[in-house]
Amino acid sequence: MGKDVIIACDFASAEKTFEFLDRFKDKKPFVKIGMELFYAEGPGIVREIKARGHKIFLDLKLHDIPNTVKKAMAVLSRLDVDMCNLHAAGTTKMMKEALVGLTREDGTRPLLIAVTQLTSTDQESMEADLLIKEPIDQVVMHYAKNAAFAGLDGVVCSPLEAEKVHAVCGETFLTVTPGVRFADGDMGDQKRVMTPAEAKKIGSDYIVVGRPITAAEDPVAAYERCVKEFVD
Ligand code: C5P
Repeated sequence: MGKDVIIACDFASAEKTFEFLDRFKDKKPFVKIGMELFYAEGPGIVREIKARGHKIFLDLKLHDIPNTVKKAMAVLSRLDVDMCNLHAAGTTKMMKEALVGLTREDGTRPLLIAVTQLTSTDQESMEADLLIKEPIDQVVMHYAKNAAFAGLDGVVCSPLEAEKVHAVCGETFLTVTPGVRFADGDMGDQKRVMTPAEAKKIGSDYIVVGRPITAAEDPVAAYERCVKEFVD
């Protein structure tokens, strides 16, 4: 599995997205499409970006009863995305059913990764709202192990957790890590960050980079800098 840089295309419309992607000319970066763009534009945006030759991580974080997730995953599989995700909190049964739905007749399927605990959830809110009393890093590793047991390909996690996830779930279990910033860059609202070079060193498999590329004066140069630090 090759390391790659995934650009978070957090734009509100297809127009803004294509304006951005057009700057890359013949380069076809791996892109992440999230809820905002998908709900605004519908599945057509996935087909269009795919037709332009990009790989797509469709970040819709499914979480429902196993049968519903299985059927929804079958739809995403037909959309021909390369990676999609769900909440590990939906249980091992839901994750297994998701894989069944995702697998095409010829046995191929998009990569499936799990969200453990959202980084917006802290110990306090997890205890108060979810009634989970265990230390949050243990909860994250437990969910990652469940995902691996269910047969998923990896998890979304902080680059700071990537090493531990690999130690617990195996080196081939993928770590897809947002929270990446250049050493001389703006942190934005991300608190625990790593540079692309550091993320490479600790073994992240994919970095998800949004604003350091999308808000850069020269997005193509910023993307190339990420690739140079993380992949080359
Ligand atoms: O702009 P920035 O580089 O912070 O974008 C990171 C992307 O990764 C955003 O789309 C954000 O929603 C997503 N993400 C994250 N932290 C997580 C999971 C996803 O920043 N734990």
